[in-house]
Amino acid sequence: MVPDPHPTINRPPPAYTTMHSNESARIPLYQNPYGRPRKSGNSCLRCICCCYCFLFILIIILAGLALYFYTILKPQVPSYKVKSVHVKSFEPLPDMRLKSEFVVNVEANNPNAHISLIYGKESNVTLWYRDQELSQGKLPSFRQGTNNISIMHVDMNGKSKLDSGIQETLKQDQKNRMVPMVVQVQAPITIVVGEYKLREFVVYVNCSLTLDSLSADKNPEIITSTYTIHATL
Ligand SMILES: *[C@@H]1O[C@H](CO)[C@@H](O)[C@H](O)[C@H]1NC(C)=O
Ligand SMILES: *[C@@H]1O[C@H](CO)[C@@H](O)[C@H](O)[C@H]1NC(C)=O
Ligand SMILES: *[C@@H]1O[C@H](CO)[C@@H](O)[C@H](O)[C@H]1NC(C)=O
Repeated sequence: MVPDPHPTINRPPPAYTTMHSNESARIPLYQNPYGRPRKSGNSCLRCICCCYCFLFILIIILAGLALYFYTILKPQVPSYKVKSVHVKSFEPLPDMRLKSEFVVNVEANNPNAHISLIYGKESNVTLWYRDQELSQGKLPSFRQGTNNISIMHVDMNGKSKLDSGIQETLKQDQKNRMVPMVVQVQAPITIVVGEYKLREFVVYVNCSLTLDSLSADKNPEIITSTYTIHATL
């Protein structure tokens, strides 16, 4: 902002002068006779008219499609639930790391009557114990039909370094039979209507579980589970 050289003169303008000065500033713009030659003004007007008609029709078509999408297709967010966890191995390695292998069975529910889902190959599933990443895996890539509930078997494995603090916490949690885990999923999902692939979006699911224990060859009991789901287009 350029400093005003006469602040005391210009600073408090009465309301009516502001309106007046605005109006007088606008009038010459509309009456400027040099700006537009008359002929091109006419064809230009036609062109603009055409554009508006086209835009109007486009908007009606898009609105119709959106209405169709939301009233006929009634899209609903799919839901996911961890049904069971199988611990295949959970043991310290000679190099002090922890080797873990899990099979996480996830129930995926597609409640849509007209929308199928294709789970893409680039998904990521990560299993956390508190702030420690234990195992990684992928969702199976498949097409889930309409009104379908499928169980996905997610194979996960990893080798992770646990410092002594978190080892102690884990021991305590195992003793209390309350081991907090998070299954974090990022999955690209394509929406399919009939045979038309509409678009892909990425679904993020966090599932916080409390398991009663973690030991090899066991199916720990799931004591509590809560889910958050979030999608980006
Ligand atoms: C869901 O689809 C899978 C194959 O994609 C099929 O095996 C399963 O039986 C279907 N489940 C239901 C409840 O329709
Ligand atoms: C999963 O991870 C891989 C590599 O780490 C990455 O390229 C991919 O985009 C991730 N997928 C999603 C859905 O975030
Ligand atoms: C899942 O948890 C991670 C780490 O705590 C967080 O960054 C992310 O926003 C969460 N995602 C959802 C969908 O809640």
